[in-house]
Amino acid sequence: MKVDVLLGLQWGDEGKGKVVDVLTPKYDIIARFQGGPNAGHTIEFDGKKFVLHTIPSGIFNNDTVNVVGNGVIIDPYIFNTEIDELQETGIDVKANLLVSRKAHIILPSHRMLDAVYESAKGDKKIGSTLKGIGPTYTDKVSRNGLRVGNLNHADFQKKYEQAKVRHLAIARQYKFNLDAFTIEGMSFLEYEKRWFQSLETLKSLTWVNSEYFLNHALQTGKRILAEGAQGTMLDIDFGSYPFVTSSNTITAGVCSGLGIAPSQIGRVYGIFKAYCTRVGSGPFPTELFDDKGEQLRATGREFGATTGRPRRCGWLDMVALKYAVMLNGVTDLMMMKADVLDDFESIKIATKYEISGKTTDEVPYDLTAEKINPVFEVVKGWNKDLSGVSSFEKMPDELKQYVDYVEEKTGVQVSMVSIGPDRDETLLRTGAF
Ligand code: GDP
Ligand code: IMO
Ligand code: MG
Repeated sequence: MKVDVLLGLQWGDEGKGKVVDVLTPKYDIIARFQGGPNAGHTIEFDGKKFVLHTIPSGIFNNDTVNVVGNGVIIDPYIFNTEIDELQETGIDVKANLLVSRKAHIILPSHRMLDAVYESAKGDKKIGSTLKGIGPTYTDKVSRNGLRVGNLNHADFQKKYEQAKVRHLAIARQYKFNLDAFTIEGMSFLEYEKRWFQSLETLKSLTWVNSEYFLNHALQTGKRILAEGAQGTMLDIDFGSYPFVTSSNTITAGVCSGLGIAPSQIGRVYGIFKAYCTRVGSGPFPTELFDDKGEQLRATGREFGATTGRPRRCGWLDMVALKYAVMLNGVTDLMMMKADVLDDFESIKIATKYEISGKTTDEVPYDLTAEKINPVFEVVKGWNKDLSGVSSFEKMPDELKQYVDYVEEKTGVQVSMVSIGPDRDETLLRTGAF
């Protein structure tokens, strides 16, 4: 057995949560390997809608174990809220959730620092979700972080205070006013109190050395799916730096974020929208500023699942998609939100970038510095309502041609096309699973 991987190939919000939920019955274990509550993974079934931030998207299947891996960072307050909300709907979260002792913890003062750094950047701000992601991973890498396993240590409180003092000292250099700062609608001190109360929930969960748990599971024939957060173009190394998140969102992140050897990686499911979106700042070569962009946002309900911010919309970017396929070793593509293009008579796809009079089909070193003009090809839209389509094979011809086009350009099979947010609105290619 090998670990299969499911991750985003664009700028996040591709629909990872939906697909993990669809594939969950095929797996014994779903394991998140990076990111934190900056993620918002939406799952819809039976007329209900859930948005998960930290908990893996396999939680709705009673027979699946969900693991929060060492590469994930946890905000105890957000985690607690998420668990409570799910438990209220009758889902026995605690019975099927394991947490790595090595996962790092987001402190209230990490969130404060995130806000400090963003406001100092002014109009160059990243557009962070302000969940403390950058500062928490910074402390991890600089060997100053606190991990889940620290919670039971006698010196936890001391370490917490030391970190807070250090963070406040940094904030003061930016002339930060703590009294005017709020988190989740609360003063810092009120939030800090709630945060400490939330630690009890985190302590009540089952902690594991997830690298051993997962490798033993593999040896005994268990099927594991690794769930990514964000997307390849937000990867700390290969994304549109500095407009990225602070973790490796690519397949390599599975190895370090779960303790899985590269030789143990199986299929890699790469998820992409039939067009592109991005939330937050940073370069977006195929972004649309016209009524077509508005149409994509309105039809696709493109508003952030975590922050509610409107997502920027644009055409499919084949240069970026091919880059993501290469970096991740994608074995199967999954095209999401095809239905959002139902009313388009023609669809554009960027196949090259034109930069300073030269064309290239590679993502340049610094997407932010170059003025990029995408070179588009135009294909015919299906211009039909996809809601009645019952199988992959029965897709309209123009949609099949769109799929063929993507396959030809990337060299990878499209194994799934999604035509709506619900679990049931999913077309699996016969024989692909
Ligand atoms: P994730 O972060 O990758 O899990 O994606 P998000 O949940 O942030 O955003 C995807 C959004 O698209 C959610 O609102 C989903 O319910 C919705 N969605 C997923 N697949 C489809 C689809 O095929 N069609 C439509 N119209 N919506 C979809
Ligand atoms: P899911 O898992 C889309 C974006 C933010 C910002 C940048 C850095 O739902 O696909 P951070 O909070 O990490 O400091 O933000 O990354 N971003 C996401 N965009 N989907 C996400 O997650 C994202 N997580 C972070 O908007 O531009
Ligand atoms: Mg999302």
